[in-house]
Amino acid sequence: MMFYHTSVMLEEVISQLAVKRDGIYFDGTLGGGGHSLEIMKRGGRLVATDLDGDAIQYADALFRTEGMDGKYTLVRDNFKNFVNISDKLGIEKYDGAILDLGVSSHQFDDGERGFSYRFDAELDMRMDRRQDLTAKEVVNNYPPSELLRILYEYGEESFAKNIVANIIKERANAPIETTGRLAKIISDSVPYRKGGHPAKKTFQAIRIEVNDELNGLGNAVRDILRRLAVGGRLCVITFHSLEDKAVKSVMREMAADCICDKSLPCVCGHKAEIKIIKTNVKATKEETEINSRSKSASLRVAEKL
Ligand SMILES: C[S@@+](CC[C@H](N)C(=O)[O-])C[C@H]1O[C@@H](n2cnc3c(N)ncnc32)[C@H](O)[C@@H]1O
Repeated sequence: MMFYHTSVMLEEVISQLAVKRDGIYFDGTLGGGGHSLEIMKRGGRLVATDLDGDAIQYADALFRTEGMDGKYTLVRDNFKNFVNISDKLGIEKYDGAILDLGVSSHQFDDGERGFSYRFDAELDMRMDRRQDLTAKEVVNNYPPSELLRILYEYGEESFAKNIVANIIKERANAPIETTGRLAKIISDSVPYRKGGHPAKKTFQAIRIEVNDELNGLGNAVRDILRRLAVGGRLCVITFHSLEDKAVKSVMREMAADCICDKSLPCVCGHKAEIKIIKTNVKATKEETEINSRSKSASLRVAEKL
């Protein structure tokens, strides 16, 4: 089979999940199916979602080749619809779950998908190619104030003003239709950047907007944790600080016995629903040497009480 994606922190995740034979596990970000396959190899049953039809097709073929027929259900949907998906399948509780956020190597490396400044392609960046909003639409039709917000908020781009000013100027001449042209506009707007391509932050910001990656992430983490059986664990791998902040904040709140202002006596009656098992676990040096993508990964693990 073709190369799709190298799973990040695979052994750590699998050991944290302590997969039970015939337990039911949820993988919200199927990708190349690496985490999912290991869960099934240990006797777990699987429900997995992905927005990307390529991921569903690839993983389905992989699981069949590995003799996993009958052990899994793949749903092409957003994991943020977890409650609905589980209700429809009649699953009340899961024994564990994983979210390995962001994009897969396949999405990045397939020039046609328009995610990367490394290939000149139509500006697209959709995980789900059924949706209408593309990167081309964002770059050419969003008002300057929205573009600025996205670059600051999702890209933490300090040259956002220059970049947006040049996008607005250039798109008035002719629509910006390709990753190559956008990358050139950005490179010309950024005076100097240490480490990484000058377009890296802007491309990340536009991708987050196109796929609406941050809205509802915290709620999805809460929904999944609430539907774990006692002792069940959720592993979340994030790749940038904004994702991590959303996950951390929900886990901290759900693990607290009180959410009142610390200086006041407790009146909230809040009870911890989970316990935090691991925070900010990084890939080992050996893994980062083999898989550079794992360098920015951070794993959080929480367990249902
Ligand atoms: C980093 S990859 C997952 C890799 C996978 N764990 C593996 O071992 O191969 C992330 C995948 O999640 C999908 N994805 C990202 N956000 C999603 C969402 N909100 N709902 C469903 N799928 C999503 C992407 O399309 C991509 O295929």
